[in-house]
Amino acid sequence: MIAPTTAPARAHTPPDWWQDAVIYQVYPRSFADSDGDGCGDLAGVRSRLGYLRDLGVDALWISPFYTSPQADGGYDVADYRAVDPVYGTVGDAEALIADAHALGMRVIVDVVPNHCSDRHPWFLQALHEGAGSPLRARFHFRPGRGPGGEEPPNDWISLFGGSAWTRTTDPDGTPGEWYLHLFAPQQPDLNWDSTAVQDEFRCILRFWLDLGVDGFRIDVAHGLVKAPGLPDLGRYEQLDLLGEQLVPYFDQDGVHEIYRSWRSLLEEYPGQRIAVAEAWTRSLDRTARYVRPDELHQAFNFKFLNAPWDAARLRELIATSLEAMRAVDAPTTWTLSNHDVIRHATRYAEGDPALGLRRARAAALLMLALPGSAYLYQGEELGLPEVTDIPDEVRQDPAFHRADGGNGMRDGCRVPLPWSGTGAPYGFGPVPGGPAWLPQPPEWAGLSVEAQTGDPRSVLELYRSALRVRRTDPALGAGRSVEWLDLAPGVLAFRRDSDQGAVVCAVNTTGEPVRVPGDVLGTLLLASADEPQVAQDSGDVLLPADSAGWWRSS
Ligand code: GLC
Ligand code: MG
Repeated sequence: MIAPTTAPARAHTPPDWWQDAVIYQVYPRSFADSDGDGCGDLAGVRSRLGYLRDLGVDALWISPFYTSPQADGGYDVADYRAVDPVYGTVGDAEALIADAHALGMRVIVDVVPNHCSDRHPWFLQALHEGAGSPLRARFHFRPGRGPGGEEPPNDWISLFGGSAWTRTTDPDGTPGEWYLHLFAPQQPDLNWDSTAVQDEFRCILRFWLDLGVDGFRIDVAHGLVKAPGLPDLGRYEQLDLLGEQLVPYFDQDGVHEIYRSWRSLLEEYPGQRIAVAEAWTRSLDRTARYVRPDELHQAFNFKFLNAPWDAARLRELIATSLEAMRAVDAPTTWTLSNHDVIRHATRYAEGDPALGLRRARAAALLMLALPGSAYLYQGEELGLPEVTDIPDEVRQDPAFHRADGGNGMRDGCRVPLPWSGTGAPYGFGPVPGGPAWLPQPPEWAGLSVEAQTGDPRSVLELYRSALRVRRTDPALGAGRSVEWLDLAPGVLAFRRDSDQGAVVCAVNTTGEPVRVPGDVLGTLLLASADEPQVAQDSGDVLLPADSAGWWRSS
């Protein structure tokens, strides 16, 4: 008898951490407030790290906490190497990073290179020195057009509404040059042709890398380079804040040179430091250019975020995403929400919050079963809806005020998180009845971390279970492809294989239960809704309306 040969155990090199990381976005203003001033802070984040570890995420991305007049929630930075007193100190940031590392989580911070604050010393100095000052070359200062220079230098429109140019006043009080701001007037665009700007940002990256951060989320990564000569758009058009139109100030080829230089800087540091691009482009192929092997590690996949709740459309979009990123050998990323968009529980709701929540639960299982890295936005693990009735007078989004409310509804996804208790601020701040910078709806008592913990039907426990399975099951996480299964119309299904078995994910995007063959699915691991019923006779499985499940398959 011939002894069976045993194949040598395959040496598993674990994928780089970011290839399949689940990264949790902290919007620090709204996460946890340690000192009771109504505004979240770094000590608050630090005090909740245990929650994030138990949730099961691999890393945090923290939105800006740098010194800032807060004209755009901190995306207007006045000092890139200092922490705004509202959020704490650089020492708090260091302690937060150290604690996160001790708990096995990594920390990514935001870098905002497209623009700074109008209170940044460079800009103040440039204003002070007047036309012709070399400091003005770090920004886009131009004389106006028309008689007396009264017209803006070109026809660009701010993403927050109104002209993208603001006229300055010269030190002697007479009207002077104009400066470019693609966002609010308090956010002058930096000129990336300037070597001073390039050098400064390399130093800023080093400052935070030396402090121990594991990477950067690059704000408006597609905007740094403007078409030479700043040509007119030729049309009046209010662009969507997060739009995909082809314009002379977005997705210019020159940006890639910057990211190649940043990549080599990151490579100098030990421990796989990464960068992820916020790049709104017109196609996934254009997005893939940001993650070519010598550029950034990841780019957000906004097409997935924007996709409608429809099996066929989602499948097409997922397939195109995987293909575009495979072409450059980069992992695909998946996101459903962030601090700039309507929370997906509301986006999917079509006016019916219960429907929105069912779909949001299903979407979470879909996203977390896909190959690559997933970004969660704080509060989605609680199933938080968008708050749509914030009184105008407490809204802070500059887009709301500049665009007459049109495109600026971002406060509704930034309402402080409910942690515990029955009265506002629901544990967000330390004092019952204490302040929160935006009002929290009374229904949020029932959505708090405390209220959901231990309730197997809660969104929070669904996320915890899904992240646990994802972390331990070799079929989930990193990868470049899926095997599609055609089970029934309106059902999105795919299989992911590993040498230790497969996982099948099936999503019914229709409003009716759908019957699918049970032998393809296997044993149920996790379901977003009621456990799918198995027919006695045929073994068929009835997938509930707007639901998803994971099955272990042989
Ligand atoms: C990005 C940020 C957004 C900010 C804008 C300007 O899109 O995500 O919040 O308003 O950049 O910095
Ligand atoms: Mg505070």
